[in-house]
Amino acid sequence: MSLPENLAESTLEKTNARLTELFANRTGRMRASEIRELLKLLDQPNIISFAGGIPDPAYFPREAFAEAMTKALSEQAAAVALQYSTSEGYTPLRDWIVGYMARHGVTCTRDNILITAGSQQALDYLGKIFLNAGDTALVTWPTYMGALGAFNAYEPRYDRIDPQTNRPTEDVLAGAKAAGGEVKFAYLSTDFANPTGVTLTEDQRRTVLSRAEALGCAVIEDAAYQELRYRGEAIKPILALEIEEKGDIDACRTIYLGSFSKTLAPGLRVGWAVAAKPVISQMVLTKQAADLQTATINQIAVSEVANGVFEDHVAKLREVYGVRLDAMLAALERHMPEGVEWTKPDGGMFVWVTLPQGMDGAELLKEALKANVAFVPGGAFYADGSNRNTLRLNFSMSAAAKIEEGIARLGDVIRAQL
Ligand SMILES: Cc1ncc(COP(=O)(O)O)c(C=O)c1O
Repeated sequence: MSLPENLAESTLEKTNARLTELFANRTGRMRASEIRELLKLLDQPNIISFAGGIPDPAYFPREAFAEAMTKALSEQAAAVALQYSTSEGYTPLRDWIVGYMARHGVTCTRDNILITAGSQQALDYLGKIFLNAGDTALVTWPTYMGALGAFNAYEPRYDRIDPQTNRPTEDVLAGAKAAGGEVKFAYLSTDFANPTGVTLTEDQRRTVLSRAEALGCAVIEDAAYQELRYRGEAIKPILALEIEEKGDIDACRTIYLGSFSKTLAPGLRVGWAVAAKPVISQMVLTKQAADLQTATINQIAVSEVANGVFEDHVAKLREVYGVRLDAMLAALERHMPEGVEWTKPDGGMFVWVTLPQGMDGAELLKEALKANVAFVPGGAFYADGSNRNTLRLNFSMSAAAKIEEGIARLGDVIRAQL
């Protein structure tokens, strides 16, 4: 390397070091997602990956979207589809959501709805709106790691919400105060949670609500997987239970987040928030400042496809993924050694595995990769990185025969470590 190039390199290093120093404190808690790193593995041949958390692209409603996009781009429609639109979202889509929410027991108007770029954006906005540095966010242990990622930028302290344990309200409030802030919200996934697959019973939903009332905090209800139920009866969302109690959504503390990512397609980035008007108004202001609006053409296409094929399409997904869930549960039963436990979800995309104490999911992954099988180590789903003897398995991406083979490989790897 010639001298000028060396000089250039040291200048580059110094500049990069200085730029990094200039980053705000909040960036200190932004970390590369273990999941994103792992997704790179999906490209390798021979790997059976249970690591993703994504829908099977073979079942995207491609034709319906192709038709919807062609229609949106026709001569008359394109002037709207390619134009800026309102921050609140495309009115016909919000109206479809009003009907959808009503079917789930939530009576609301379009003014209670904001369209977001996926529910991930809503999580970021809610962090931005509610959290001062040092405030407390209550989360389940484990929780969706993308929610931790979204909230981390606002420098909260995390504490546990667990409807199965009876922790005194004063204890939670005292912890928040000692950290110099307030309890702002409880975030949880009500149906087939990521990562555990667990669903809250109606009683547990009511418990969450009454705890939030006692704590004086909001509830963020993440319903990303709600539609993917393969057996059993649907349970009303927390927001629906609260509306029954209070009589009006505008008197409710629950903020419901929906998404088309798991039902139609994640690539369009269309999700929504439903809440009391003051919360939605603040989210609209936040959106105006952040990205003005969710892509007009994507909202139009989703509206068209939702109006056309939503129910039929979701019925198809339930059939396909239901078979895969059963295949995974049966394979775990066949291949896991004694001492390994797992959840038995009624829907969603994940099964959560607990290994014997002392084992480490991240260490196990290294061995598993040698045997060409991948998963996500569980530690990343805990706000404190604890419980490393856990792992998340996705079943939506693999056909039954692959699931059988992959779980057999995983069983062998675990057995070898015991
Ligand atoms: C529980 C949960 N919430 C939210 C999201 C974000 O989804 P999207 O932004 O695509 O709606 C995901 C994605 O995997 C998720 O698992």
